[in-house]
Amino acid sequence: MLADSYGRVATDLRVSLTDRCNLRCTYCMPPEGLEWLPREEVLTAGEIVRLLRIGVTLLGIREVRFTGGEPLLRPDLAEIVARTAELDPRPEISITTNGIGLARRAAALREAGLDRINVSLDTLRPEVFRTLARRDRLPDVLSGLSAAESAGLAPVKVNTVLMRDINDFEAPDLLRYCLERGYELRFIEQMPLDAQHGWSREGMVTADEIFGLLSPWFTLTPDSERARGAAPAETFLVDGGPARVGVIASVTRPFCGACDRVRLTADGQVRNCLFAREESDLRSSLRGGASDEEIARRWQAAVASKLPGHGINDPSFLQPDRPMSAIGG
Ligand code: 5AD
Ligand code: SF4
Repeated sequence: MLADSYGRVATDLRVSLTDRCNLRCTYCMPPEGLEWLPREEVLTAGEIVRLLRIGVTLLGIREVRFTGGEPLLRPDLAEIVARTAELDPRPEISITTNGIGLARRAAALREAGLDRINVSLDTLRPEVFRTLARRDRLPDVLSGLSAAESAGLAPVKVNTVLMRDINDFEAPDLLRYCLERGYELRFIEQMPLDAQHGWSREGMVTADEIFGLLSPWFTLTPDSERARGAAPAETFLVDGGPARVGVIASVTRPFCGACDRVRLTADGQVRNCLFAREESDLRSSLRGGASDEEIARRWQAAVASKLPGHGINDPSFLQPDRPMSAIGG
């Protein structure tokens, strides 16, 4: 098991497959992008699958989510998914993607064994997309979303980060769009994880504000049927249900006490929290000829030292050195 000293057990592994991305969302990256990891430092499909095998057979990992950067930029994504689906016990397999290129690849990914998908969609307006993601790719994202649904990846989940005076006014439109198509929308509070350190508490659109933006149009009631468990999203029934909307209030309503997640960066470092300030290097172990048991022990030690919370609300909070794109969402 991957247990920490506060009684939490990590069963959900987030794997960043690349730190590269074809968008430049303002809450994530500077316009010029970042200095990407050198190719030789990024884990190969074989190395990733070996770590996943260790995770599911020796350490109790039950869910694997592939993230980025943008995971669709890995040409071997379908191969990685297929090889993950062959593991015994087979974990649940999902990806978080910006949707670009998904239209072409959704069916193959489903075929390979992908179970679920989260697509990021912050706006329905091309001009707002250009401002927020600094690229003109909204139609690709929308066609990717519908391809995911056609490929049988329903219910498709949609992630939205609201930014004040940029896309916050679109909250009701985004919810309406998702309700009409049967997508499950989740609003995510902006977290201090951008490379350029532009986050501010005052600038962030809080969960309370999100309810305020939606309440003139929708009646939201707490979803008593769906136990929240370790899920970061609090879900609400929309107009009595069965449709739902989620809010992930990492900053104003932290859920660290129930966290069951552990992360692996594209260059093979275990992070026990998005906001961790330390990492454990599994890549050196992998490439240095360590046995599965040695790697498992190293991984266990990395999780054992997990802190009780992310500390964003402490005066002494320090943003991690790696941005979100290099950690995986
Ligand atoms: N705060 C909140 N969410 C973020 N994401 C990326 N950066 C941030 C941030 N600073 C979101 C993306 C994607 C998911 C992986 O995390 O929009 O949906
Ligand atoms: Fe790319 Fe996601 Fe970062 Fe946007 S938030 S730049 S889509 S990694």
